[in-house]
Amino acid sequence: MQFGATTALSEVSIAFEPGEVHVLAGANGAGKSTLIKILSGAYPSYRGEIRVAGRPRRLSSPAVARALGIATIHQELSLVPSLSIAENMQLSLTGSALGLRSRARERAFAARVLSLVGLALDPDTRVERLSLGERQLLEIARALAQDANVLILDEPSSALSEPERLRLFSEVERAVQRGAAVLYISHRMEEIYRLGQRISVLCDGALVLTRLASELDRAELLRAMLGSARPELGAARPLSRSAGEKAVLEVRGLCAGQAARVEGVSFTLGAGEVLGLAGLDGSGPSVLLRALVGEAKLTAGEISVLGQRYLPTGPGRALGRGVAFLPADRKASIFEELSVVKNASLSALGRFTRRGFVDRARELRAVSELSARVRLKAPSLTSSARALSGGNQQKLALARCLLAGPSVLALEDPTRGVDAASKLDVYAAMADALRAGLGILLYSSELEELMALCDRVLVFFEGRVVSLLTKPEIGRERLLAAMMGAP
Ligand SMILES: Nc1ncnc2c1ncn2[C@@H]1O[C@H](COP(=O)(O)OP(=O)(O)OP(=O)(O)O)[C@@H](O)[C@H]1O
Ligand SMILES: [Mg+2]
Repeated sequence: MQFGATTALSEVSIAFEPGEVHVLAGANGAGKSTLIKILSGAYPSYRGEIRVAGRPRRLSSPAVARALGIATIHQELSLVPSLSIAENMQLSLTGSALGLRSRARERAFAARVLSLVGLALDPDTRVERLSLGERQLLEIARALAQDANVLILDEPSSALSEPERLRLFSEVERAVQRGAAVLYISHRMEEIYRLGQRISVLCDGALVLTRLASELDRAELLRAMLGSARPELGAARPLSRSAGEKAVLEVRGLCAGQAARVEGVSFTLGAGEVLGLAGLDGSGPSVLLRALVGEAKLTAGEISVLGQRYLPTGPGRALGRGVAFLPADRKASIFEELSVVKNASLSALGRFTRRGFVDRARELRAVSELSARVRLKAPSLTSSARALSGGNQQKLALARCLLAGPSVLALEDPTRGVDAASKLDVYAAMADALRAGLGILLYSSELEELMALCDRVLVFFEGRVVSLLTKPEIGRERLLAAMMGAP
């Protein structure tokens, strides 16, 4: 598969067996999503042959792939936010026998599908009101409901919380038991070995190995994924120096949000500190982060940035006051039709403007330095952001936040979809920022990340901070217990 000068996939021969989870691994930009898109009919112009149940088939459109029993959950969510859950379900089924149904049956069907993944939601709820995790579960449910022979999941767990992830695993196991072939993409070692019977690794568009999971150890897998020489992966160290230096952010008695809300949140973020935020979906971190930039309604409380009172009124102005927010949903932050440079410098144009003109050379230099820092893999800095793989779009969004030169970085799952090696690049960029005196608020759906990077973690439960854990106490069990509301 060729995109201009980029060969995204070449000469790949691979087989997926019924009743087996086959994990597809590989660094960001290796070609995983490209392969998935071909198998789901989204890239009909591929070369080569594909056999489904032994017969050669031309996967010329998504409808053709679906009709052949291939259900796909893409890396980027494909739900329509302004439609209800039930309507979104029907969208994926049009063309099939289920196309014409009464509204009541439509709702009943949606309710059954929701129950597959343990979502207790009203089918009439509009998708825009759901959290990212709920949307991802909904997407998964929709594919499961097709009872497909081939189930393809492209990083399905990246926005899910721990319990949601367990739910997903058991559904995947169910699909395997009824004989489906499951193709699963993940960057998480734990998940790869927990689910996968067989593992294939792609590197720069080529298949480098296929092996039974029981015959491939982690070190070898990492080496295969990284291909060329890369430094040994040491464990990530806590980034923070110590709290209590100069405060960059102070929050007192903050209440915010409507349906999902936080109440009475107070904390201080020091310069050079990473303060972790933990909690189940909807428990508060996401509302808190949005309240800090004016995307969630503030109902009470006080915020100061660098000792100055600050009233958030929207992301643009928040940035002017030194607060940068990176949302978990890339779709909300990346403009696919704009170039990589434009995307990166969007919030920092003022820095490159001289007498009303943007100094393009300086802009390009700054963006290219930062791209190198986070090891952004892009065909070129002037190509459109659409040409970037999922993990690289995420790095681009982070680069934009850093380029704006904020005092406070509010990060919501910043390494979502970022491969194991690139995570260290992201951590290194965060460490640079800390050395420059920024404070970082970090929400992560990966407990390991909070444990590795934070000296202190605020744990939310039902909108309130229920505990503040400090370094030696930040263990998996303690975190999970607090997140579930255990005293
Ligand atoms: N529409 C496109 N135009 C140009 N290049 C593209 C396009 N889509 C993908 N590419 C390039 O193809 C290569 C493979 O991308 P792909 O999305 O398959 O990676 P991936 O393995 O899924 O990575 P990730 O883990 O980051 O999701 C990358 O170098 C990417 O930049
Ligand atoms: Mg991908």
